[in-house]
Amino acid sequence: MAERETPSAAVPVTRREPLRSRAWFGDGGKNGFIARHHLRAMGRGGHNFDGRPVIGICNTFSELTPCNGHLQILSDAVKRGVLQAGGFPLEFPAMSLGEPFLRPTSMLYRNLAAMEIEEQIRANPIDAVVLLTGCDKTTPAALMGAASAGVPAIVLTGGPMLNGRFKGRNVGSGTDIWRMTEELRAGTITQDEFTEFESSLNRSAGHCMTMGTASTMACLAEALGMMLPGGSGLPAVDARRGTLAEETGARAVALAGSDLTPRRIMTRAAFENAVRINAAIGGSTNAVVHLLALAGRLGVPLELDDFDRLGAELPLLIDLMPSGRFLMEEFAYAGGLPALVNDLQDALHRDTVTVTGLSLTANCQGAQVYDREVIRAFDNPVLPAGRGTAVVRGSLAPDGAVIKLSAAAPHLLDHTGPALVFDSIEEYLAVAEDPTLDVSAETVLIVRNTGPRGYPGMPEVGNLPLPKKLLDAGIRDMVRVSDARMSGTAFGTCVLHVAPEAAVGGPLAFVRTGDQVRLDVPGRRLDVLINETEMDLRRSAWQPPTPPVTRGWTYLYTEHVTQADTGADLDFLVGSTDSPPPRQAF
Ligand code: FES
Repeated sequence: MAERETPSAAVPVTRREPLRSRAWFGDGGKNGFIARHHLRAMGRGGHNFDGRPVIGICNTFSELTPCNGHLQILSDAVKRGVLQAGGFPLEFPAMSLGEPFLRPTSMLYRNLAAMEIEEQIRANPIDAVVLLTGCDKTTPAALMGAASAGVPAIVLTGGPMLNGRFKGRNVGSGTDIWRMTEELRAGTITQDEFTEFESSLNRSAGHCMTMGTASTMACLAEALGMMLPGGSGLPAVDARRGTLAEETGARAVALAGSDLTPRRIMTRAAFENAVRINAAIGGSTNAVVHLLALAGRLGVPLELDDFDRLGAELPLLIDLMPSGRFLMEEFAYAGGLPALVNDLQDALHRDTVTVTGLSLTANCQGAQVYDREVIRAFDNPVLPAGRGTAVVRGSLAPDGAVIKLSAAAPHLLDHTGPALVFDSIEEYLAVAEDPTLDVSAETVLIVRNTGPRGYPGMPEVGNLPLPKKLLDAGIRDMVRVSDARMSGTAFGTCVLHVAPEAAVGGPLAFVRTGDQVRLDVPGRRLDVLINETEMDLRRSAWQPPTPPVTRGWTYLYTEHVTQADTGADLDFLVGSTDSPPPRQAF
C-alpha cells in the first residue's frame, strides 16, 4: 500500500433504474415537493434532484468514541468524491459504539446499532451508502445493518493510530496495557512509569493499532470485498486516507442503484476468504462472533467449526501484536492487506466480487511486500498453520468454545487441573489480590454468567487478570475459561465464548470448585471430569438467574439474543431480506 496507488478500479456496474431516491425526489406533485423543499432549506438547489444518485454517508463519529473522533474530516473527503463523481451526498449520524466508555459493554449495543443503521438506510432516500466506522463494534454493526438493508454499501474505516512510543520502543494498544498493568501489580514498574506510559500510547487520531478487533474487522471488511483495496491499514493521519475517502465517495456513486449489493458481495466464498485471512493476520477472536452474525444476516451458511477448519490451512504470516512484534503502521508500510492477499492468491477463492467490481485477488494482483519481517513468506511464518483460532467442544462446551492459539502458552494447551469457579467477574476481582487465595499454576480459573444473556452483552473479561499470588511467583499465564469474550489486543490461554452460556443452563453453570477440568486443544476438547449422573443431578437442581433488567433495550436483548456460536445476534434479525420499496408516507 505504501508505494502503490489505490486501485479504485471503477469497473462499470449494472444500474437498476429507477434509483430508490426517485421515489422521494422524482415526484412532481406534493410528495416530491415536500421531500425537496426541506433540503432547499439547507441550501441544496434543484440540480441535486435531477436524478443523480443520493449517497448516504453513515457517520459513526462521536466524541464518546475517540477512535472515530476524526471521521468528520474523512466525511468531508467522501463528500468531495461523491460530488466529483456526480452524486448528491447526504450525511447522517449513526449510533456510535466506543469501547473505552460503554458500559456494561459495547457488545450489548452492537445489534442495536445494526438495527438503527439498517432502518435509517431503508427508510431514507439513499441509493448507496458509505459506512464510516473504526472502533471495534462500529464496523460489524454497520456491515450487519447494511447487509440487512440490501442497498449498495461501501466501508471506509478511520484507520489505525500511529505507533505508540514509550522509552524508545513501540507500544501497542491494549496489548501493552495488559502487560504493563500486570507489571504494576507485580511491582516491577512504578505508578509514575505507568502514568508516563499512558500519555505515550495514543499519539494520533485513529483506532487501536495492534491487530485487535478494530484492525481485524477493518482487514476483514476489505477481505470480504466491502472496502477499497488497502483501506484497512493506512494510518488514520496518513494523507492518503483522505484520497482513499474521495475514491470511496466516487465509488459509492458508481455503485448506486446497482446490483452490487452486500448480499452479492458477501457470499460464502467471500466469508471463506475472510476466515482464512483472519488466520493469516492473527485476527481477533471477536471476529468469530461478528462474522457469524454477519453471515446469519445474509443467510450464508457459516459455522463455528469453519474458523478452525479453514483457518488451520494457513500459517500466521503477519508479525503484529498481540501475537507478534509490530503494529499496523508497519503493516501498512510493508504493503498492507493487498500485499498479503497477493501472496495468498493460491489459498483464496478468486471468484468473488468486491465493491470495485473485481475479485479480491484481482484487486491485489501485483501488490508487493516491502518488509518481509512484517509480512512473512510462507516458508518463514510467525507461527505454523494450525495456530490460529481453535474450536473446542466437550462436556463443558457442547456447542463449542474458542481459543486463540497464537496468544496462548503452548505448554498449557493440553492441561488438566482443578477448577476455581466464580459466578461473576466481580466475585473474582474481589479476591484476585488475596495472597491466601487457594490457587496454583495448575488451577483452571472459571468465570461464568458473562455470556450474551448472562452479563448481559458478553463483555471482554475472558482474559482474567492473574491472581496476584501467581504473579508474585513469576507466573504470567494460566488456563482461564468463561462464556465471555476477550479483547482482540489481549493474550493468554483463555477459552472463550463457551456455548451454551451458564445463564441459559449450559454445563458451565454446573461446574464446581475442585472439579477436574481438562483442556485438550490437540483433541479439540474441553471437559469437566465428572460423570453424567452427577452432571444430571446438578442440572436438575439449577435455577435460571433472574433477568437483571425488565425494560427497554436490555430486556429486548436478553429475551432475543442468540448464543455465541451463532453470532449473538437477535433471533428476529437473522436471515434478512433486501429492503422492500419504500411505501408512500401520505
Ligand atoms: Fe476503539 Fe480500541 S478502543 S479500537
